[in-house]
Amino acid sequence: MTKRTIVALPGDGIGRVVLDSAIQVLDSAGFKADYVEGDIGWEFWKKEGNPLPERTLKLLEEHKLGLFGAITSKPKDAAASELDPSLKDKGFVYSSPIVGLRQHFDLDICIRPCKSYPGNPLNFIRRGVGDTVVEPEVDVVIFRQNTEGLYGGVEWSNPGNEVYDAFMTHPKFLKNFGNVPVEELSISTRIFTRKYTGRILRAAFNYAKKFGYKSVTVCEKPNVIRETSGMMYKMAIEIQRSEFPEIQLWNTNIDAQMMWLTKNPEEYGVIVAGNMFGDIVSDGFAGLIGGLGFACSANLGEQVAVFEPTHGSAPKYADFEESIVNPIAMIASACMMLDHIGEMELSDKIRASISKVVKAGEVRTYDMMKMLGRQDVLNKGAASTVQMTEAIIKNL
Ligand code: NAI
Ligand code: MG
Repeated sequence: MTKRTIVALPGDGIGRVVLDSAIQVLDSAGFKADYVEGDIGWEFWKKEGNPLPERTLKLLEEHKLGLFGAITSKPKDAAASELDPSLKDKGFVYSSPIVGLRQHFDLDICIRPCKSYPGNPLNFIRRGVGDTVVEPEVDVVIFRQNTEGLYGGVEWSNPGNEVYDAFMTHPKFLKNFGNVPVEELSISTRIFTRKYTGRILRAAFNYAKKFGYKSVTVCEKPNVIRETSGMMYKMAIEIQRSEFPEIQLWNTNIDAQMMWLTKNPEEYGVIVAGNMFGDIVSDGFAGLIGGLGFACSANLGEQVAVFEPTHGSAPKYADFEESIVNPIAMIASACMMLDHIGEMELSDKIRASISKVVKAGEVRTYDMMKMLGRQDVLNKGAASTVQMTEAIIKNL
């Protein structure tokens, strides 16, 4: 195994805690790496007016692989008020550094696997026939376009004349919004391109083929959002016919999918969607397998890849003397990094250990015990972050 250099991006709050856990597990599993720490998050916003300093981008440019904890974001005004006094009113504007990372490095492929661990008390169950209870095995992998669509940032409130005039040339805008005073308008666009739509679709089909999933479901709304969702669905049909005839192509609407994911989640394999619907449907499926303590993700570009749990910095828990949060989402994200660089033996070993610990049920963080997240959960039998990490290491 060649020794790797990984850019460790702890960020804020519990990001630092769970990243430490993941690195300990990687070390114990035998992964050979040096970790260089990249500055990112709220502290750097306050001190430097930039939550994603240039030096951090340089580190990622050089080493290509990032393990990211979580950051804290706050609304515009709150962000401005926390700036160092010497930086105030100098034109610094806060924007989320993780969104910034995705855009800077063109990390357009987001993968969010949602696979249930047998024995997890948080697994979704449903009523079966008679008095029976069914616990369907969920094994769904969501491919979310990560850089375009509704999160592309092309938006206006009270748009200028050129923009307004352009919109007024659209008959539907004229009819439905033509009488609205311009200062009362807020407009967010949803832009899809053939290039990136093709990339996310092919990534989804390739994954299904490689790992033996029988279907790829395009989860959009082409009957209503005819241009963008329509393009994605049409391209999916072309790509499936010409490149992946052995894989079934299904088409669901995002609203109906949110209902079906609790009716028959076991039917779905790979799901692919644009940025916002991918965000929504991946949180939905994550809820079926234990929620934020279990939801891992990869952000892949052509050069750089960053792996992160989908949860945030959970500031409420950040200052607990002994951390209570579940490190599994972060550790599973580190496993995705190992998969990405071809170290499957190590990722399999770590996942097997997580499975063993979850199944045995002796070590459970507060979320797995369905407790409210308070410091006293440790006295009531919940495991701390450190105890969960140690259990996973012991079972490697
Ligand atoms: P959050 O994900 O930080 O926390 C929501 C709740 O989920 C927590 O109160 C806790 O009950 C639970 N939770 C989260 N992680 C957990 C874990 N590992 N184990 C057990 N329980 C866990 O989301 P919230 O509270 O909406 O946002 C807090 C901050 O994080 C905000 O500033 C937000 O902008 C930021 N954020 C950052 C993200 C990122 O770095 N990618 C993603 C989401 C939010
Ligand atoms: Mg989300």
